[in-house]
Amino acid sequence: MIRFDSISALRQYLQPLRSDHRISLVPTMGALHEGHLSLIETAKRETDLVVSSIFVNPIQFNNADDLARYPRTLEEDCQKLESAGCDVVFAPSVDEIYSESPIVRFSFGDLETVMEGAFRPGHFNGVGLVVAKLFNIVQPDRAYFGQKDLQQVAVVRRLIRDLSFPIELVRCPTVREADGLAMSSRNRNLTPTEREQAPALFEALTLAHELMQDGRSPAQAKGAVTGYFSSRPGFRLDYIEVANADTLQPVGEVLAPGQTAICIAAYLGSVRLIDNLVF
Ligand code: PAJ
Repeated sequence: MIRFDSISALRQYLQPLRSDHRISLVPTMGALHEGHLSLIETAKRETDLVVSSIFVNPIQFNNADDLARYPRTLEEDCQKLESAGCDVVFAPSVDEIYSESPIVRFSFGDLETVMEGAFRPGHFNGVGLVVAKLFNIVQPDRAYFGQKDLQQVAVVRRLIRDLSFPIELVRCPTVREADGLAMSSRNRNLTPTEREQAPALFEALTLAHELMQDGRSPAQAKGAVTGYFSSRPGFRLDYIEVANADTLQPVGEVLAPGQTAICIAAYLGSVRLIDNLVF
């Protein structure tokens, strides 16, 4: 595995390889866990050269404390990437990516007004900017993103379409701990007690799923989840939503198989967790 922190050196390295390698990109913010590594492993199976980026993108954080507390474990991350089969790691500094503060802004229309877009103003502008930069720097044939951040997948899908990036987007399944908790870099910030409570998020999604499988409406399922958390004082629910899995717009009834998403976000203590289930 070869490591770069400079855009120009990475570009120079990749240029001659393009003609006979299918290149994949797996963007990350580091503090890597098995969820990230599953993306690397899938990319490795499906393409010839896997590039992964590690960059804690300041402009997608809408909370200074969240940015300050974001875990940074570069050396450990590089070891994990190498074992997972990553070929190239790009770990630039903030100055390398934002030599000047960007003035271009992305707005993602209806995607900005729901769920993560509504609760984290400016977040998807930051994601869109850094992902567009990474697409331009690496120029991958395929880019791998996790279903864990379902709305991010929808945003990147529109970014690719609207800006005509010749890139195939691959959505990979959410990797979970044995007790159902979706793996997340932020799980490291949970106290031991919070960590024990955290699987309630996935339990709530499962409850909503079962209710809708039994014929209950999205409104009834959402009501049940709100009730579920009212007896769990450690949690503060941001939202529970039932939405179209592609457009993320709320739906009043269950859609065709694979089209409905149940999405949840909640604070557990000071840590904000998100999860979703598509059925
Ligand atoms: P980060 O949170 O580090 O996640 C990097 C990629 O790993 C994302 O595509 C995310 O959806 C995926 N991922 C995270 N947890 C996962 C899990 N449990 N199972 C499967 N995939 C998982 O998402 C970002 O970084 C940033 O917004 C980024 C796209 C890098 C732009 O800065």
